[in-house]
Amino acid sequence: MMELLHRFYFLALILFFCVAGCLNDKALSLHPDEKYTEQNAHGMIRASRKTLAPVYAPLAEQIVSDFDLSEKDGIGIDLGSGPGTLIVELCKRTRMHWINVDINPNFFPNFYRQAEENGFGHRVSAIFADAHSLPFRDNYADIIVSRGSYHFWEDKVRAFSEIYRVLKPGAVAYIGRGFSRNLPVKAAKKIRAKQGKKMQYDVNNKANELYNIMNELGIKDYRIDRSKPPGSENVNYGIWVEFRKTEENVHIKGGG
Ligand SMILES: C[S@@+](CC[C@H](N)C(=O)[O-])C[C@H]1O[C@@H](n2cnc3c(N)ncnc32)[C@H](O)[C@@H]1O
Repeated sequence: MMELLHRFYFLALILFFCVAGCLNDKALSLHPDEKYTEQNAHGMIRASRKTLAPVYAPLAEQIVSDFDLSEKDGIGIDLGSGPGTLIVELCKRTRMHWINVDINPNFFPNFYRQAEENGFGHRVSAIFADAHSLPFRDNYADIIVSRGSYHFWEDKVRAFSEIYRVLKPGAVAYIGRGFSRNLPVKAAKKIRAKQGKKMQYDVNNKANELYNIMNELGIKDYRIDRSKPPGSENVNYGIWVEFRKTEENVHIKGGG
């Protein structure tokens, strides 16, 4: 009898540590660390209104045209949307509901205000979450986009596997940094000049990193997008990856 009781306590103890471990893991990933402050959010909001202001409308236009979104209903997620300017531009061009998912909730009051002012308050949501652990069920989103955020994700393979998991079968993700190919060269040059050395990175290395992530996860249907307009040879337009959750490849390595 005593031995049975000991075994019971031992099992209960193991169960307790497992549950505590899971909760702790979740809690950790949901608490913004010191980088994600109000000051940080305000800095990015300022940049989105000044230096980066010309970026969002062309990017939204390209996304809507490439993925045929103008008549589509459903849910779009902008992961690491921050100020949410891209979402407002996407709302102007689609009928979809857009969710700003960001690890820094200090962006949200400004985001909601901006959406309200543009008449889209009823078509947006904001969720405080970490790209590594998305609080959505499998096969939830009709599209996931992200600009200028993925290079902050510590475990990119895990975050991309989360994106894949949350996409509906057949749905697409467009994740990257920099500009869309329809941004006029003059505007792109002006932005890069203002950003100075901060945004100098080797695009070939970044492309390799994205290839490796796709390969590691076993994602077959993807395209690295480095397209840019004529005359932009010396201008860094950034790098993007477009990938689709195929009906026959719903489960991938490491998640999904
Ligand atoms: C440079 S800002 C870009 C904001 C916005 N996408 C834009 O283009 O204006 C990077 C954003 O990614 C968010 N971010 C960084 N790490 C994240 C993570 N692990 N999960 C979710 N969001 C994250 C930051 O809080 C910030 O809003």
